[in-house]
Amino acid sequence: MENLDKLNKFWKNKKVFITGHTGFKGSWLSIILNMLGSNIYGYSLKPKKSSLFNQANCKIFLKKNIYADINNYNLLKKELKKINPQILFHLAAQPLVSESFKNPIETLKTNIIGTSNILDIIKNIKSLKSVVIITTDKVYKIRKSNKSYSEIDHLGGKDPYSASKVCAELVTECFANSFFEKSFLKNKVSTARSGNVIGGGDYSENRLLPDIIRSVNTKKILVIRNPNHIRPWQHVIEPLVGYMKLAEKQFKSKKLDNYNAWNFGPKKENFIKVINIVNLLKKRFNFDTKISKKQKFSETKVLKLNSNKSNRKLKWSNKWNLKKSLNKVMEWNQLFNKNVKAKKICEKQIKEYFK
Ligand SMILES: NC(=O)c1ccc[n+]([C@@H]2O[C@H](COP(=O)([O-])OP(=O)(O)OC[C@H]3O[C@@H](n4cnc5c(N)ncnc54)[C@H](O)[C@@H]3O)[C@@H](O)[C@H]2O)c1
Repeated sequence: MENLDKLNKFWKNKKVFITGHTGFKGSWLSIILNMLGSNIYGYSLKPKKSSLFNQANCKIFLKKNIYADINNYNLLKKELKKINPQILFHLAAQPLVSESFKNPIETLKTNIIGTSNILDIIKNIKSLKSVVIITTDKVYKIRKSNKSYSEIDHLGGKDPYSASKVCAELVTECFANSFFEKSFLKNKVSTARSGNVIGGGDYSENRLLPDIIRSVNTKKILVIRNPNHIRPWQHVIEPLVGYMKLAEKQFKSKKLDNYNAWNFGPKKENFIKVINIVNLLKKRFNFDTKISKKQKFSETKVLKLNSNKSNRKLKWSNKWNLKKSLNKVMEWNQLFNKNVKAKKICEKQIKEYFK
């Protein structure tokens, strides 16, 4: 496993452009890169009021903070041309399945056209040496068997979010073949697929860990919707380190793989039932629960990623087990409630991760 000093050698003073830097993953990524001395440029919509981005005051350490729409092609082009980044992480997206049912057109526009805008504009940004397009584990066509999904498996998406991310994968492949193959971007652009993550500073609605934390903090009863659903649990730092390793390797080497998609999934043993997570945390934290009557006891199909390629070629693997990841989320909340600054807590946990 990398330590921070080793990473620092590569990332120090690198010009990194992040779309979606005001989001949950984008804020954690910005904090890690700031610790490593990168020059960070962010392009996103304004953060929500209660967001890690605001709590950690990420604005302060960015070289440039741009609040704008990824669908605004001309502005995005102008900014990228001005900045001339060396590395680009594209995270900006409408990332929620539930929201994609409410606003399918917005989701499709942002996730497909927004990604296409990035890909089209970077054709002329000669400073770029590595581009990572973040999609999701939900791009795989669900099959009946319980076999894990590897990068060459069929893609498919039945809901608007998954479909939009499948399209993001397809346009990336299309640009790679049609435009990048004979250019300075040959083998420099990849997609990264990972699943739901947990971590301090996540304020999403209808997600178990943020819901548990709200119950601990407000003493409101936690309503458990699907106690028997099996979910993967992975700390947010894990896939972010995967994206960074991919970006670095791509930056340095000519060719990594024939197929430029990379899985960064959780460990097999990190797939467990919602109710088991609740019981584990109830032993240590004070909160009451009730099971929702609307719960579905349907057979849960579990989407497991096969990350062998990332393990082998990027020397990436998950470091924290389930218990440790959960503890880190709860510790983040406890420290924040004791008025420790959000950025300090993230930095402390990042240092621990790399120890
Ligand atoms: N969080 C997860 O568990 C998870 C799992 C799999 C994949 N992902 C992917 O990771 C990426 C980041 O997710 P997140 O959890 O940090 O989401 P988030 O909602 O916290 O952040 C989304 C970011 O995208 C920006 N954005 C949204 N629409 C935009 C637009 N039209 N123009 C410019 N910026 C826009 C937001 O401002 C924000 O900075 C997304 O691409 C998401 O699909 C996340």
